[in-house]
Amino acid sequence: MKHQTMELPFGKKQTQQNSPKIIIRIIGILILLTIISLYYPLLRYPSFLLFNTYSLTSSHAYDVREHSLSVNKSGEKCDIFTGEWVSNPEAPYYTNTTCSMIHDEHNCMKFGRPDKEFMKWKWKPDGCDLPVFNATQFMEVVRGKYLAFLGDSVGRNQMQSLICLLSGMEYPVEVWQNEAGTSKRWQYVNYNFTVANFWSPYFVKTELTYPNSPNPFSLYNLYLDEIDYSWTTQIDEFDYVIISGGHWFFRPEMYYENNQLIGCHYCKENVTHLDMYYGYRKAFRTAFKAINSVENYRGITFLRTFSPSHFENGNWNEGGDCVRKKPFASNEIRLEGNNLELYMTQLEEFKTAEKEGMERGLKFRLLDTTQATLMRPDGHPSRYGHFVDIDTNEYNDCLHWCMPGPIDTWNDFLLEMLKIENGRSRGS
Ligand SMILES: *[C@@H]1O[C@H](CO)[C@@H](O)[C@H](O)[C@H]1NC(C)=O
Ligand SMILES: *[C@@H]1O[C@H](CO)[C@@H](O)[C@H](O)[C@H]1NC(C)=O
Ligand SMILES: *[C@@H]1O[C@H](CO)[C@@H](O)[C@H](O)[C@H]1NC(C)=O
Ligand SMILES: *[C@@H]1O[C@H](CO)[C@@H](O)[C@H](O)[C@H]1NC(C)=O
Ligand SMILES: *[C@@H]1O[C@H](CO)[C@@H](O)[C@H](O)[C@H]1NC(C)=O
Repeated sequence: MKHQTMELPFGKKQTQQNSPKIIIRIIGILILLTIISLYYPLLRYPSFLLFNTYSLTSSHAYDVREHSLSVNKSGEKCDIFTGEWVSNPEAPYYTNTTCSMIHDEHNCMKFGRPDKEFMKWKWKPDGCDLPVFNATQFMEVVRGKYLAFLGDSVGRNQMQSLICLLSGMEYPVEVWQNEAGTSKRWQYVNYNFTVANFWSPYFVKTELTYPNSPNPFSLYNLYLDEIDYSWTTQIDEFDYVIISGGHWFFRPEMYYENNQLIGCHYCKENVTHLDMYYGYRKAFRTAFKAINSVENYRGITFLRTFSPSHFENGNWNEGGDCVRKKPFASNEIRLEGNNLELYMTQLEEFKTAEKEGMERGLKFRLLDTTQATLMRPDGHPSRYGHFVDIDTNEYNDCLHWCMPGPIDTWNDFLLEMLKIENGRSRGS
């Protein structure tokens, strides 16, 4: 995909400063055609039930989170992804003055967000503890390694959070970028650690349907069974690949298989309608198959599960906003609707991929951030991701995450999982 304006990594000089309209449109695109509504307060999110339901409907009943279990002080296995947000007066661990790499879109304090409580929480799993991020430990674990984030702007948001969490130790230097500037690699010279962001929001081959139209970004052709080689040709030497995605699939899309148009999602064309879950499932299937067939790849693949957005009182384009100031408790919200459907779709494809990967000796792990994230309606930029423009072409961003903020916890999870992996390879 050529539109590099979509990727403005970090707050560096934007190369397209002369086209504010495009940038505004890009922000719109980044906020995406998300039509997720919020339901609350309802039943406790029944993760065990969910997994039971899942097991019942699938042929192999086993918990896909088996490999993400931590061991607690009494020596018992503990699921780090089920728990509550608890107050943490010591947070945040960086600010927009200690970390120079917060992209404007996520720099909520710069744009006047008045409250700070949203930064002051940490995740407490039921039955064990999740340590807050320790940069020294992280660097010990990743020394000499390659780590990639593969996906869309929410994945990039996590990478930027990681860079800020590590900023007390070192900033990485850019060592590579693709022609469009959408994918990059950076290196931490003192730790010989490489981090990369591979931009591929759909994972599969994608084209603009009407590249010459005045609004070219309005419709995409997705070739659901064809790989986007821009990332598969990059991951060989990577030790860890974190794949994530979802929000782009809410957009209008034309679906192709075997190079034939088979239907479309949310488009005006006279084509069979297919829902987004269809495209989502196939895109993940193709991506996972691709990962399992990259010849020299030996890494661990993490699926960072779907990140719910929190538009209330309207969809993204209807004045919807996210004005809450506190997390939900687990009994105040549950995963359902689109969020649940996307989550389960990912899990099903993940499970198949994990099994196929095992035959090749490739590991798949679930970075199951969905529930913790669902409980954080207070962590989005809302209107504080940009200067307020009287020409109100901009939407509230209830999809990306303020930095510092709840997205930092995804890296707490990541470090914990890397430690679990190392423990496993050392121990048993
Ligand atoms: C950091 O946030 C403060 C408000 O807390 C704001 O005044 C300042 O401009 C921001 N600085 C940067 C470099 O983003
Ligand atoms: C360890 O986990 C088990 C199972 O979740 C729980 O019953 C037990 O209370 C936990 N022990 C500690 C010390 O947290
Ligand atoms: C971080 O980890 C290092 C190495 O394990 C340890 O020495 C240090 O005390 C930890 N820092 C904090 C703040 O816990
Ligand atoms: C850096 O890491 C790579 C990959 O693990 C390794 O091949 C190389 O020897 C390392 N370089 C140094 C200077 O340690
Ligand atoms: C849509 O396609 C069908 C089948 O090709 C055709 O019969 C119908 O006339 C088309 N409708 C419009 C509005 O183009």
